[in-house]
Amino acid sequence: MLLPVTREEIGDITGRWRRAGETVAFVPTMGNLHVGHLELVRAARGLADHVVVSVFVNPLQFNDGADLAAYPRTPEEDRALLEAAGVDALFMPDAAVVYPHGMAEATRIEVPGLSTILCGEFRPGHFAGVATVVVALFNLVRSDTAVFGEKDYQQLLIIRRLVEDLHFPLRILGVATVREEDGLAYSSRNRYLTPTERRQAPELYRALCGVRDGILEGRRNYSSLEESAQRRLEAAGFRPEYLVVRRAADLAPAESGDRELRVLAAARLGKARLIDNIGITLRA
Ligand code: PAF
Repeated sequence: MLLPVTREEIGDITGRWRRAGETVAFVPTMGNLHVGHLELVRAARGLADHVVVSVFVNPLQFNDGADLAAYPRTPEEDRALLEAAGVDALFMPDAAVVYPHGMAEATRIEVPGLSTILCGEFRPGHFAGVATVVVALFNLVRSDTAVFGEKDYQQLLIIRRLVEDLHFPLRILGVATVREEDGLAYSSRNRYLTPTERRQAPELYRALCGVRDGILEGRRNYSSLEESAQRRLEAAGFRPEYLVVRRAADLAPAESGDRELRVLAAARLGKARLIDNIGITLRA
């Protein structure tokens, strides 16, 4: 596995592949890799001749300094996992490579509308940080495809939007969320859960499934379904930020004619902030 760290090194590697007519799939991550990330890598391997993974804990997307400082960093374990997964290049740049003029002065990418709702309301500036870093990484890596998990569904839509708006010659692939046996979505933040909280945590997924089942049974009063699911989370010890039914394409509030829906939630449990979502397709 190649280990580029500079702009020139990553550019030389993918440039050589491109000139040989070989395709590249890119998986951006913040490290502390788990089964969900490895699923992204597996999907990437099926799409291209070469897979590049980046590990960069992006300070610009943390609106809370304590959260950034506590974010788990496990570079040696990440490297071993990616090597075993057959990744061709692991790009682990420093902040000075990603943000050559420093973070305070870095050019920002904003995706209005989509970035200010749901998670954007509770984490101001977060999605501008994500949009900015993915554009920088896309330009450094220059892949044909980039792969993201559906667990961060709002992030996935924002990235699709900016790729369209800025005309990136790049295909974005979303990969279904990988769950533990009890339904909890794999996340680096699960490690903040105490053993008791870990046992409560799958209630988030169960609450989403309860809303989905209600809709599939014909209930269309979305706000009443949302409210009872939020109460269910509170009863299980969560502090919900939101639990909503939205139109899958653009996260606008779902209306009765919408067929592709997404139920999305963010809730705090102890020190962890957990997010999750599931899709629903209604028959016409
Ligand atoms: O989903 C993540 O891990 C991050 O938000 C991303 C896309 C790697 C940008 O830092």
